[in-house]
Amino acid sequence: MASPIIAPFPATRLRRLRRNASIRAMVSETNLTPANLIWPIFVTEVPGAEGEIASMPGVSRLTLDGARRAAERAAQLDIPAICIFPHSDQSSRTDGCERAWDPDNIGNLAIRAVKETVPDLVVMTDIALDPYNANGHDGLVKDGEILNDETVEALVRMALIQAECGADILGPSDMMDGRIGALRAALEREGHKNVAILSYAAKFASAFYGPFRDAVGASGRLVGDKKTYQINPANRGEAIRCVARDLAEGADMVMVKPGMPYLDICRAVKDEFAAPTFAYQVSGEYAMIEGAIRNGWLSRDAMLESLLGFRRAGCDGVLSYFAPTVAEMLA
Ligand code: PBG
Repeated sequence: MASPIIAPFPATRLRRLRRNASIRAMVSETNLTPANLIWPIFVTEVPGAEGEIASMPGVSRLTLDGARRAAERAAQLDIPAICIFPHSDQSSRTDGCERAWDPDNIGNLAIRAVKETVPDLVVMTDIALDPYNANGHDGLVKDGEILNDETVEALVRMALIQAECGADILGPSDMMDGRIGALRAALEREGHKNVAILSYAAKFASAFYGPFRDAVGASGRLVGDKKTYQINPANRGEAIRCVARDLAEGADMVMVKPGMPYLDICRAVKDEFAAPTFAYQVSGEYAMIEGAIRNGWLSRDAMLESLLGFRRAGCDGVLSYFAPTVAEMLA
């Protein structure tokens, strides 16, 4: 940015343009609207598992009917997209993750239910094996190693079924190498050329995913950690290279995840590539803010401020569990 011309005090009094709400609105540089939001929801097939998630107060696992109602609510609130995360029957988790490409797994049932209810609502999915993996990892595991190329083949099978069920945007969150190219080629080959890929391109090995793993029933399962595939939180250059690689392989949009501790990455990605850039305000970020609000330590404006921060950092949109609440506040 060119250095701004600024006259010395008192010619310059920056408070002149902060004097009242009207004048502040005139010079507001960033906006937040429901169009900037993607709403992640959890859908369960387990009787009795619906209801509030202890580590994410205010967020519930939904039944298929609940997912239909969420779709209607999103449409009413002008939220353009919903992202579906499955909570599967724990006994259906296997080492081969076969249920990931079952057309009737709970994630795929939810895609169809939402599409039937509100056809114009954009449905995004998650592509990774963790909801169906016996050991909680995003990839196939052999002798303690997370297999890359074999996992990519499994992800392609999973993705094609999601596309057939009506998904509009696929969200590969697995961090295997080569997956975007493989997914894009398979989608072209199998007649899904208009299905978009929002790559979890810069996904860090973060402590902020804890509540999510509770939500999808992966917490007790994960053997070891995800550091051999997710990015070291210390590495900005590596994150930029991941985004460059995913765009070159055919990603339509890219994501930075988590969000708030990584706003520098968001800004760098937007400036470097000018591609549609999203951030995921993950479960741990939600839990911190919502927990503090519920305790009376923060006001509800903290939600809006956190989301505006993503917009200021260059994000076109944010996946946020606050989406419906914030859309109501903005209405
Ligand atoms: C798994 C996945 C995770 C999240 C989205 N997809 C967890 C993980 O990588 O362990 C986290 C989302 C959140 O914390 O809200 N593929």
